[in-house]
Amino acid sequence: MAEPILEVSGLVKHYPLTRGILFKKQTGAVKAVDGVDFTLAKGETLGLVGESGCGKSTVARLLCNLERPTAGSIRFKGEEITRLSGRALKAVRRNIQMVFQDPYTSLNPRMTVGDIIGEPFEIHPEAAPRGDRRRRVRELLDVVGLDPEYVNRYPHQFSGGQRQRIGIARGLALRPEIIVADEPVSALDVSVQAQVINLLERLQAEFDLSYVFIAHDLSIVRHIADRVGVMYLGRIVETGSDTQIYDHPTHPYTQALLSAVPVPDPAAREHRERIILTGEVPSPTDIPSGCRFRTRCWKARERCALEVPALAVPEAFRHTSGPAAHDSACHFAEEKQVVPVEEHGNGPG
Ligand SMILES: Nc1ncnc2c1ncn2[C@@H]1O[C@H](COP(=O)(O)OP(=O)(O)OP(=O)(O)O)[C@@H](O)[C@H]1O
Ligand code: SF4
Ligand SMILES: [Mg+2]
Repeated sequence: MAEPILEVSGLVKHYPLTRGILFKKQTGAVKAVDGVDFTLAKGETLGLVGESGCGKSTVARLLCNLERPTAGSIRFKGEEITRLSGRALKAVRRNIQMVFQDPYTSLNPRMTVGDIIGEPFEIHPEAAPRGDRRRRVRELLDVVGLDPEYVNRYPHQFSGGQRQRIGIARGLALRPEIIVADEPVSALDVSVQAQVINLLERLQAEFDLSYVFIAHDLSIVRHIADRVGVMYLGRIVETGSDTQIYDHPTHPYTQALLSAVPVPDPAAREHRERIILTGEVPSPTDIPSGCRFRTRCWKARERCALEVPALAVPEAFRHTSGPAAHDSACHFAEEKQVVPVEEHGNGPG
């Protein structure tokens, strides 16, 4: 594996719950992110997947230094960035940029496209001399496949896919090394999703970018990610290469998520086992003891309530070298093929 550009360990973000107006008393905490570890290699794409509310966007904001973590460490090229301030913080922020989910609300409707894409230069004037910014903006439009002549138009004059291209151009303006894309295609039509994903892949090669790509849809992540982390209630519960996760999942939660991915081929669909999860996702203010997935896990036993399973290669696979030997936070991890093998590459594009 190439040298990591980003190393995240023990990352925690708790939002305090308070009562009272004058004398605020903390009554609990929303444990949005509750101990996340991963690394990102240079040029790699790490996919983060999980249901709504599992903490994906919070991780994204922490990585981009838009919020400070409650605990834990984020290292960018070996440098701890969670405690930076002033000029050092600004310099790191320039290198880790975010692309947001909703191209309808993330662009200011009263600004021209040129001003939107050029806005990062106002915050980081050192990135481009004033006289050169217009040219840079037109170049960025071209890079994302939009006509540079559109520079004076407003966001409402573009389609959803085009707006997301504008968001990506803005993300690229400062020539970052890492892009954290938080559900960048979730708001788009399926046909447009593939185009935007292809654009992201092309840009990755062209600008030597590393991606953290967040989605709730496993099939989209498979198409773009080299490695995948599956999140549940603020933690990564299973992580591995795309083949390990999609063809050899060992965590019951991943298996359940995969069993819900639509299978287009009716013959393959018939052979596929559906795992229906019972119960609701517990509140992040009240996380179950032991394994946090146990209240919905069909395999849960007594040990699951008592012992937190570590994110590591499970004992059963520790002495094997096959694809099941990857990190999975389950006491009773077992390999289970959920998606039929002939399904490969059926993501968008
Ligand atoms: N500023 C905040 N204050 C309090 N709670 C918060 C705050 N931000 C997020 N949360 C809570 O933290 C949890 C994780 O939220 P987050 O937005 O990270 O989830 P997500 O995985 O991105 O979900 P989605 O798929 O819906 O975007 C949720 O329960 C959310 O309500
Ligand atoms: S540790 Fe127990 S509850 Fe958790 S996923 Fe494994 S079997 Fe299920
Ligand atoms: Mg989110």
